[in-house]
Amino acid sequence: MLDKIKTLFRVVQDSPVLTKEDLEQFRIHFLGRKGILAGLFEEFKNVPPDQKKETGRILNDLKIVIQEKIDASTQKFEAPEETSISQLDLTRPVNYMEPGARHPLSIVRNLIIEIFSRIGYTVAEDREIEDDWHNFTALNFPEEHPARDMQDTFFIEKNPDIALRTHTSSVQIRTMEKNKPPIRSIFPGRVFRNEVISARAHCIFHQVEGLYVDKDVSFRDLKQTLLYFAKEMFGENTQIRLRPSYFPFTEPSGEMDVSCNICGGVGCNICKYTGWVEILGCGMVDPAVLENCKIDSEIYTGFAFGMGIERITMLKYQIKDLRLFFENDLRFLGQFKGIF
Ligand code: DAH
Repeated sequence: MLDKIKTLFRVVQDSPVLTKEDLEQFRIHFLGRKGILAGLFEEFKNVPPDQKKETGRILNDLKIVIQEKIDASTQKFEAPEETSISQLDLTRPVNYMEPGARHPLSIVRNLIIEIFSRIGYTVAEDREIEDDWHNFTALNFPEEHPARDMQDTFFIEKNPDIALRTHTSSVQIRTMEKNKPPIRSIFPGRVFRNEVISARAHCIFHQVEGLYVDKDVSFRDLKQTLLYFAKEMFGENTQIRLRPSYFPFTEPSGEMDVSCNICGGVGCNICKYTGWVEILGCGMVDPAVLENCKIDSEIYTGFAFGMGIERITMLKYQIKDLRLFFENDLRFLGQFKGIF
């Protein structure tokens, strides 16, 4: 019997178990009720007592080897099958990353910078928290002058006054204090005013200021520069119109309208049926402002302008509510994908 068991080790090892069916056959053949092992245990009863210990041990080993082979094969068949290339759907869309979008205000700010850089304007930025001199006094806002009420200011400290800048015109002063003419720069940035938030106004918004100071700079240069800008921004057929206005830091001062790019000048609710939309303030730099910055107003003249980026963006993309710029609603922001 011992020899018989020993040969069975080899038989177990050599039995092919390639499929689930093979495995089942193997199990029945060796472990079934009428299988090999059952037969051997029957025979074992007749083994002489002095051989029982040795035979029993080997018989148990055989049983373990059979069980191990069954366990290993079961595991193999239960493991998830590797997917073959033919089962893959190669046309399925991948889990792609949503592309982001630039904020519309950044798109338009970059466009303004690009348009002016083509005609030689450099870009400068400066602080958002300003002193009274740079935000008001150097810009020719007299103490107690009603012009200061034009812009409701967020003060941080009083006496001396420190405030969130109400416009980017403060950067004109900082630039003229640091540089000698010729100066030809634009200053984009964030500004703050104590305004009631509505579809047309916000307490935070963005401006781009422009400044050109040199010998013989005239109002003609201002007008031509702004016409160039309007056409580049809104299209070749855009027209401009200058209306007299007042700013303490420019003399003469004007406000510039562009022909409404939504109705083409015929009249719609965006241009309030006038065919024109106001987009910026401008003028010749007041000689007093040049002198405040130690620039000789007998030698140099200059022009300046300031525009709201929100206003221009609303016009360019036909956005009706300014609050959308600050709400971070992806349904709105996602519409600007792919624009740089
Ligand atoms: N600072 C003005 C404002 O915020 C805009 C402005 C008007 C800027 C005329 C200028 C200018 O440079 O010349 O309302």
